[in-house]
Amino acid sequence: MEKYYLTTPIYYVNDVPHIGHAYTTVACDVLARYQRMNKREVLFLTGTDEHGQKIERAARERGLKPIELADQVVERFRQLWGKLSISHNDFIRTSQERQYRAVAEIWRRVKANGDIYLGEYEDWYCVHDENFIPGLQEEKPVCPDCGRPLEKLKEASYFFRMSRYQEKLLRHIESHPEFISPPTRRNEILSFVQGGLRDLSVSRTTFRWGIPVPDDPGHIIYVWFDALTNYLTGAGFPEEDSRFSRFWPADLHVIGKDILRFHAVYWPAFLMSVGLPLPRRVFAHGWWTVEGKKMSKSLGNVVDPGEVADRFGVDAFRYFLLREVPFGLDGDYSQAALVGRINSDLANDLGNLFSRILAMVVRYRGGEYPPADTGPEEKTLIAAAEKAREEYHRLLPELAFQSALIAVWEFVGAVNRYLDRAAPWNLAKDPEKKGRLDTVLFASLESLRWITLFVSPFLPDSGVEMRKQLGIAGSEWNDGFSSLSEWRVSWPPGRVQRGRALFPRIE
Ligand code: ME8
Repeated sequence: MEKYYLTTPIYYVNDVPHIGHAYTTVACDVLARYQRMNKREVLFLTGTDEHGQKIERAARERGLKPIELADQVVERFRQLWGKLSISHNDFIRTSQERQYRAVAEIWRRVKANGDIYLGEYEDWYCVHDENFIPGLQEEKPVCPDCGRPLEKLKEASYFFRMSRYQEKLLRHIESHPEFISPPTRRNEILSFVQGGLRDLSVSRTTFRWGIPVPDDPGHIIYVWFDALTNYLTGAGFPEEDSRFSRFWPADLHVIGKDILRFHAVYWPAFLMSVGLPLPRRVFAHGWWTVEGKKMSKSLGNVVDPGEVADRFGVDAFRYFLLREVPFGLDGDYSQAALVGRINSDLANDLGNLFSRILAMVVRYRGGEYPPADTGPEEKTLIAAAEKAREEYHRLLPELAFQSALIAVWEFVGAVNRYLDRAAPWNLAKDPEKKGRLDTVLFASLESLRWITLFVSPFLPDSGVEMRKQLGIAGSEWNDGFSSLSEWRVSWPPGRVQRGRALFPRIE
C-alpha cells in the first residue's frame, strides 16, 4: 500500500479557532479521505503551536500560565475538529515531550553540520508573526506583512547559516516545479531567494516559554524552528525509525499564503542542513474576508466555524468552503453566499435528484433494486460518468477542489437530463415498458452510487447517509474508488431505504 502524509499548519493557541483554521483543516481532511478511498495509507497530522513570545504574552494578559492557556485553547480546537468531521490520525502539541526531543535533535544536527553560530541580533521583530524583520530604516516601522508595530531587539542570539543554502534551494525549486503551488506563489518565492538569503536568528534570550537550546539553556529556540519541526515529530522523528522512514518526506504541507516563506525557504534550508529529504509539495491557499472586510477581533466579524456548522450543517459548510473559491485565491465569506450555495447545489441539484430517484424506485419497484440492462440511451449517461471520474481524479490531487466539484455537478446535471429524456414516469404507465423502466431506474441508482463516492470526501456524513439510503453495505463500500472502475449492470440483492432529507432548503 502506498503511503500519503499530509499536514495542516499547527495553530497558535493565543486565539480561538476561526474560519481560516477551519478552511485549511477541511481542505486537508478532504484530501485525506480521498487518499484513503484510493487505498493509500494516510497519515494526516494537525496540532497546535504553543511556544513563543506571542503565546507567553497572551497568557500573561489573561493571568494564566502559558500551558494553562494552551490547554484551554487546544480543547477548543479538538472540539471543533470533532464537530467538522476531521479525520486526522494524530494531533501534535509543541509542548509535548516528543516535540522537545525532536527539536533538540534537529538543533544538534544542524550545529554539528557547522550551520549554527553565536552572534547578536540588533534589529526589528514582529511578535504577532514571530518574524525577524531586519534592515528597515524608519524610526517606528510597522511589519511589512501584517502591519502591526515592530519591536526593537538587541540580544545575544544563535544564527542559522541560511545563506549557505541559497543556491541549493534555488536549484531545488527550479527543478521541482510542483514543490511550491500555486505558480504565482512559487514565483514570489523564487524572486525572494534570488534576492539573497540572510542568516537567520534562531534563538532568543528575553523570554522563557519555549524549548531551550541544548547545552545553552539561557537561549530559547526560535518558535518557527520549533514549529516547523513538528512535521518530523509527527512522523516519528527521531525515535520511531520504521514509521519515520515510511512516512517522511511528507507528501503535502497545506498552509495559508502568509506563512509560505517559512515553509518554502526556512524549512527546506533546515532540512538540507540536517540532510533529510524535503517535503514533496507545499501548497499555499488564499485568505477569507468576511462580507468584504478583513476579519478581525476589533471589527467583531470573526466567523466561528462551530456556529456556522451548527446552524447550516457540517457538510454544507465544508462544501461551501471548497466550492466557493478556487483553492489558492482569496475568497469572501457571507451568509448570503453560503445559503445560496446550499439551496442551489445541495438542496436543489443533489438533494432533489437523490430523493426523486429513490422515490421512483419505491413507487415503481417497492424499493427493490431492478434488474438492469444497458441500452443505447444509457451511452451518453455512462460517458458523462466516466468524464466526471477522469476530471475528478485529475483535479483533486492538484487541490483544485472547486473544479473537481464542478465536474461532479456536471454529472449531476447529466443525470437530471437523462431522467427528463427517459421519463420513467411515462414508462410506468405502460406495462409493456416495464423492462425499459427497470433499466432507467437501475442506471439512475448506479449514477447515484458514483455521485455518492465522489462527494464522500467533501460531505462525509451525507456520504454515509446516501450509501445507507441506497442500501449499499458498508463492507462493499470499503473498496473505495476502485469500485468505480466500471459501470455496473447489477448490484448484490437489496433495496433502497428512504431516510431523512439530505440537504433541507434554508428559507
Ligand atoms: O501561522 N483566511 O498559526 P496561525 C484563510 N502557528 N486562512 C487564514 C486566515 C483567513 N482569514 N487567517 C489565518 C501560524 N489563516 C503558525 C503556523 S506551521 C509550522 C506554524 C490561516 O494560527 C493562516 O494562513 O496564526 C495559517 O495558514 C493558519 O491560518 C494558521 O495560522
